[in-house]
Amino acid sequence: MARVFLTKRIEFAAAHRYYNDAWDEARNRAVFGACHNDPGHGHNYMLEVTVAGEVDAQTGMVVNLYDLKQILKEVLEEFDHKHLNLDTRYFTRMIPTSENIAGVLWRILSTRPEIGVLEKIRLYEDDDLSAEIRTAGGAASLIRRYHFSAACRPPADRCAEGDSRRSRRKGEAVQDLDGHNYVLHVTVGGPIGGETGMVTDIPALDRAVQEQVVTRFNRKDLGQDPELSQLAPTGENLVRLIWRLLVKAVPDVRLERVGLRESRDAYYEYVG
Ligand code: NI
Repeated sequence: MARVFLTKRIEFAAAHRYYNDAWDEARNRAVFGACHNDPGHGHNYMLEVTVAGEVDAQTGMVVNLYDLKQILKEVLEEFDHKHLNLDTRYFTRMIPTSENIAGVLWRILSTRPEIGVLEKIRLYEDDDLSAEIRTAGGAASLIRRYHFSAACRPPADRCAEGDSRRSRRKGEAVQDLDGHNYVLHVTVGGPIGGETGMVTDIPALDRAVQEQVVTRFNRKDLGQDPELSQLAPTGENLVRLIWRLLVKAVPDVRLERVGLRESRDAYYEYVG
């Protein structure tokens, strides 16, 4: 029977500090930056737990959402309003990065069969950074959010508004410039590093995205871009170009997915 996926979101707050006992102060500072500051800093985490299962014929549910919420609250009691390094038993040696916290939550929740089959855990440290776990194998995905604005002359058939535009031939470029505040989601994945607790070096990822994508497109006319100008400047072509620009530039990690929100109503995603 086909399975239904159900996602429950729940918030908690916690503090953490990054340090590797095997390293000296200078190396900790160089690798972890401000995240190494004593005594630590806090985040309002948002946890999304996705479970999968068949719909029970009697209840019409995969799992009772109220029960799931109670279990998540019970599990999070150990973490909520705690200093993860000092007040929990999980991070005395392991660094409490989003990847590792999500991994710990995966291991705890996978021992609770009453929630059904655990499909995915996504933990948001904030709106710009989240980690995703889908297996118990010590691998994670990291999703980072970026912004840029750009202008383009969209093909006529993409512009529903305005009689003058509608009267143009399909595929023909309209003259008016259209602008968007693009939201870019870059997903990279791989094993969680034992020394850093991270899938990738986030500042290096940020630099790669900044250099390859943001600098290239931000506050520019996409029609003037050397590659995009050869194609229709659609979201589909832009998201594929961003993938091509990033796939070789992301540092020591696998690019898994590029998502591009063009407007409230349009989102493009590409996996090369
Ligand atoms: Ni932090």
